[in-house]
Amino acid sequence: MILGIETSCDETAAAVLSGDGKVLSSVVSSQATLHARYGGVVPEIASRRHLELVSPVVRQALDEAGTSLAAVDRVAVTQGPGLVGALLVGLSAAKAIAWAGRLPLVPVDHLDGHVASLYLGARVCARSESASADSDRAKTPERHGPVEPPFVCLLASGGHTLLLEVSERGSSKRLGTTLDDAAGEAFDKGARLLGLGYPGGAEIDRLAAGGDPTAFDFPVARVPGLDFSFSGLKTALLYAVRDLGEDDAERRKADLAASYQRAIVLALAGRAHDALERTGLSRVAVVGGVASNSALRAALPDASFAPLAYCTDNAAMIASAARYAEPLPYPGYLDLDAYASAV
Ligand code: KG4
Ligand code: ZN
Repeated sequence: MILGIETSCDETAAAVLSGDGKVLSSVVSSQATLHARYGGVVPEIASRRHLELVSPVVRQALDEAGTSLAAVDRVAVTQGPGLVGALLVGLSAAKAIAWAGRLPLVPVDHLDGHVASLYLGARVCARSESASADSDRAKTPERHGPVEPPFVCLLASGGHTLLLEVSERGSSKRLGTTLDDAAGEAFDKGARLLGLGYPGGAEIDRLAAGGDPTAFDFPVARVPGLDFSFSGLKTALLYAVRDLGEDDAERRKADLAASYQRAIVLALAGRAHDALERTGLSRVAVVGGVASNSALRAALPDASFAPLAYCTDNAAMIASAARYAEPLPYPGYLDLDAYASAV
């Protein structure tokens, strides 16, 4: 059994995976409400909260899986990229658990983790129950079951927007990335301009359902190659809100949200198609928090999406990635460090 731990941003998560990749438990404790009043994640607050939550969350994951540490034979943990203080909490916990049990430790890159969410089957747990309520709302049925490479992977989260060519499980090549904001970041910043809560992606998704996506003509930057750019879009929304004035902007909030969302979705879906053309591959798979977006799911009807429960940060995806990474044998991992930026 693999115990996975994830603390790269503002979710404290632990999961237990069977050796053949079945999710036995996946516990995610989100700190979103704690950070909401600041409009974004405050690193020091995140680290402190991880410290309080990591042990109970690991304990809960083991309990829900009906197992104990004695049955775990590998510990997987996110090493980076992310907030270093936050990462260090999970990394230290994972080292301690692995060391105490004389187990190997598997350091996992968070982005490889998102890709590996595609190799998980969906499972019913607390988090996926709320996610399926979302899927009912969006009327986008989930396509379950592991996705097999080769495929083009669109990874769109709060911290990253990448196009990858995935040739086999555990191996990928970068095709493009964002030159400025990540797609999730664009959603979050747009939501803030519209006076919505944090994190903003799901809020915009909800509000946009009642708006006209063609009401405002927001620009979709076309940068060379397979890269993305979202910072101009955010500025366009800022000007649109300012030009409308407070009352009209409030009245037309749903149209603004729908049009803004459409521009992000067009950029993501358009680039995913470009990547198919460039690589000659026939399938797109979408992962990361933004993969929950109902308009993106509708714009890419033939794509495979990570199960909703495993789009936003979770530890099941980290344990899944550990099945395709090299474990560090006991006890040679004690001096392992976290890293902040993508390698
Ligand atoms: O993957 P994730 O949990 O964290 C990172 O690794 O960054 O992604 C979080 C991002 C946030 O920016 C959030 O606003 C966005 O995913 N997100 C969404 C939706 N749900 C979450 N964006 C658009 N539509 C959604 N339904
Ligand atoms: Zn993530």
